[in-house]
Amino acid sequence: MSEGVITVSYIAATILFILALGGLSNQETARRGNMFGMIGMAIAIIATVSAPGVTSYMEIAIAMAIGGIIGYMLAVKVEMTQMPELVAILHSLVGMAAVLVGYANFMDPNISFPTPIEMTIHEIEIYVGILIGAITFSGSVIAFGKLSGKIGGSPMLLPGRHWLNLGLLIATVWFGREFVHASGTGGGMEPLIFMTVIALLFGIHMVMAIGGADMPVVVSMLNSYSGWAASATGFMLGNDLLIVTGALVGSSGAILSYIMCRAMNRNFIAVIAGGFGTEGGTVTASTEDQGEVIAIDTEEVADLISDAKEIMIIPGYGMAVAQAQHTVNEITRVLRNKGINVRFGIHPVAGRMPGHMNVLLAEAKVPYDIVYEMDEINDDFPKIDVSIIIGANDIVNPSAQEDPNSPIAGMPVLECWKGNITIVLKRSMATGYAGVQNPLFFKENTRMYFGDAKESLDAVLKIINN
Ligand code: TAP
Repeated sequence: MSEGVITVSYIAATILFILALGGLSNQETARRGNMFGMIGMAIAIIATVSAPGVTSYMEIAIAMAIGGIIGYMLAVKVEMTQMPELVAILHSLVGMAAVLVGYANFMDPNISFPTPIEMTIHEIEIYVGILIGAITFSGSVIAFGKLSGKIGGSPMLLPGRHWLNLGLLIATVWFGREFVHASGTGGGMEPLIFMTVIALLFGIHMVMAIGGADMPVVVSMLNSYSGWAASATGFMLGNDLLIVTGALVGSSGAILSYIMCRAMNRNFIAVIAGGFGTEGGTVTASTEDQGEVIAIDTEEVADLISDAKEIMIIPGYGMAVAQAQHTVNEITRVLRNKGINVRFGIHPVAGRMPGHMNVLLAEAKVPYDIVYEMDEINDDFPKIDVSIIIGANDIVNPSAQEDPNSPIAGMPVLECWKGNITIVLKRSMATGYAGVQNPLFFKENTRMYFGDAKESLDAVLKIINN
């Protein structure tokens, strides 16, 4: 392929990537957006592999085959509930690629530049690329551990951790100076290795210090970092498309982090500083001081929802665990056929990844026009007859508003308790991801319907179908 054709292909791929991002912002256009992304990526790979100077076709084919097979196997096997940890580990690969490309570039004897200034710029690219890549790599591995429950969710708060971070930053700048000086005379490997170790430690420390409740921000933040790491790789390889694509991922991840911070009512610097939220995972909290809960059975649930006029369904992580979305769609269809107004309220951090609930509901073919964002429907609860909470917990926890000492104090929540009756579907009294007990379960107008969400809803569907 000639240089001209490659440039045109890169521009086409860039446009397709932008269209893909635009498409993904809306459920109705998401499928088309994905298709644009796939076509763009195919064009990008073909153009890059056919560039003049590329000769190692055999090695590229083998690497692509191995990567493709592993990717395919993972995609087929992974459960929807494991998606966030898969995304985290994939981010770590982008980080590792940036580090490896950086070292390969540094050691490549064939790279030379006509002027010292160009050489220095290239060295800074290598240094910054490896720095971002190493932070992304180790931070994503720890995020993977936290999201999969292999590492505890509580924040690891070292004494004087802010000073430690500042020290690491100063050391990084100092080694950068050493690196640029030394590599002019053929050296530079030692400062590069020292900086890599510091960056790896920084990535570990940064994510270890973040509490369970802030994990949504971490997922999107690492998404952003992986984009900047890819962009840095593009600079090192002199590949314009990789620079642009990395920047698209980096900036969209940054915007997502901002949206997540807003959803949690947190400021970005406070998230990085760490400490918000307690244990991740489920903890059976004491219920003694909160009073009694009122449990109900399948018939009572069926009666309540059949008699309602306005229903709000609030899905959470438990709906993903139970894979109850198809039954939810069936129940919705039956109730709407009876003339009941059924709507869905989606919290921005429901589930374990951005858009988790929207993806599940779209998969089950729930009509898009009855699925609302939290901000759109939070004022409507006083008019709701029955709210059905399906495997959600933290996102409907009133202590976020009522208890200033709660680990999730200040986080906006869906105010379902303001409705007439709230039915909560869950298996036990265990806490949600943030590890805090939920006073909603003990309110007078709350009914607990215990059991696996799918089994419970299947039973309800049977009754309301008759
Ligand atoms: P959670 O607060 O985690 O609550 C989920 C509830 O589902 C649990 O209390 C659990 O109770 C129940 N459950 C689990 N399996 C179930 C099943 N098979 N059937 C019925 N219920 C089941 O979920 P949420 O309300 O969606 O809130 C999300 C939390 O995750 C927030 O704290 C958020 O910060 C965090 N987080 C979000 C993200 C993103 S980006 N969305 C990323 C990381 C972390 P039982 O065990 O009693 O059944």
